[in-house]
Amino acid sequence: MNNYSTIYEAVGGTKGVERIVQSFYPKVQEHPLLGPLFPSDITPVMEKQTLFLSQFFGGPSLYSDQYGHPMMRARHMPFPITPERAEAWLDCMNRALMEIGMPDELRLFIIERLSGPAHHFVNTDD
Ligand code: HEM
Repeated sequence: MNNYSTIYEAVGGTKGVERIVQSFYPKVQEHPLLGPLFPSDITPVMEKQTLFLSQFFGGPSLYSDQYGHPMMRARHMPFPITPERAEAWLDCMNRALMEIGMPDELRLFIIERLSGPAHHFVNTDD
């Protein structure tokens, strides 16, 4: 994180978050455990994720301004989120961060920060 006070600033603001999201979703769509959960038109999901991660990483409250309280666990309840899917999601994110050349220290910090929510969204064992 060096001199930055938020992940949002460290990754370069909304442009940086967009880059992460653009590298992440193709991996999600290709993943056998994750791809089938998502609509074939992934664009709206990518847009919401950009707003959400900007906010989650300490930037402006772009998601809440448009969609209200995130309630992310509740928003994931329609989908069967297993521990394996949580790990798969984090693995796609880790590979996305590597692909765009995120420095290791920042990459690991981001994965650590997302690991809590990912496991918190688990709502079934199978
Ligand atoms: C644990 C594994 C996860 C799985 C399997 C998963 C899967 C999904 C699915 C299927 C959707 C709905 C796509 C649609 O619109 O049809 C979704 C939406 C979303 N997910 Fe996840 N997700 C996971 C973890 C996370 C995490 C860790 C975050 C952020 C910390 C996150 C943020 C979002 C956001 C912002 C949306 C859009 C919500 C909205 O509709 O407003 N997800 N996710």
